[in-house]
Amino acid sequence: MAKRIVIASGKGGVGKTTVAIGLSKALAARDKKVLLVDFDNLRSVDLMLGAAENVVFDWGDAVLGRCTASEAIGTAQGISFLACPPRYDDLTPQKVKRLMKELEADYDYLLFDAPAGVGAGLRLACAAAQRAIVVATPDPVCVRAACRAAQEMETMGVANSRLVINRAVRRDIRQKRLLNIDDVIDKTGVQLVAIIPEDKYLRKAGIDNILLSWQLSYEAFCNLAARVEGEQVPLAFL
Ligand SMILES: Nc1ncnc2c1ncn2[C@@H]1O[C@H](COP(=O)(O)OP(=O)(O)O)[C@@H](O)[C@H]1O
Ligand SMILES: [Mg+2]
Repeated sequence: MAKRIVIASGKGGVGKTTVAIGLSKALAARDKKVLLVDFDNLRSVDLMLGAAENVVFDWGDAVLGRCTASEAIGTAQGISFLACPPRYDDLTPQKVKRLMKELEADYDYLLFDAPAGVGAGLRLACAAAQRAIVVATPDPVCVRAACRAAQEMETMGVANSRLVINRAVRRDIRQKRLLNIDDVIDKTGVQLVAIIPEDKYLRKAGIDNILLSWQLSYEAFCNLAARVEGEQVPLAFL
């Protein structure tokens, strides 16, 4: 039975999709079967995987019976994914939950890449999720948004959240250009699960729309995957 995890942040551009893809890859490297489901109707998963041209159906089509779930699932860069429908009309939480429950038997993990904000897309993702990863970069605006997202998800029935601090730069933290790690944890009120460093390869990947190289952050994503799996690995800031 797949574990169902929503990846949210409140604010946009914080690294939700990057973390979702990085975690998918790191779990796949541990021989886990992962399905990455895009809940952001601005749609970035297929684009960031370089597979936008290959998408015929999205999970909304599967929910509404226009195709089977397996017809909607694409694969790119070794990751299975479901693209997001352009609109959430007619897609009730119950229907979405039913589809995800149906897929549960075929995977070890269903990862839900949430949109920015705390609206309809997040609500649909939370309807089918058991736990959450909240992504925050170490700055006050993102931290407040992450705190709010975690609180909203709790009201949506997903109380079990863990924090990923993304784009951390040791020198900027030391020189107080970014919040320090303890402050981010205190202000979000969410337990830390991983720190992902700023990675110039990931930054470039955003432009290339393809995540080919991510050497600098690779180990951090592997540690995140290990902790998601329940292993006691150190919370190193690499
Ligand atoms: N750890 C990182 N290091 C460098 N760039 C990053 C990192 N995480 C995300 N980015 C970049 O930040 C931008 C926004 O990331 P994205 O995952 O699309 O955010 P979101 O899904 O929260 O909107 C992308 O260009 C991405 O490549
Ligand atoms: Mg995104």
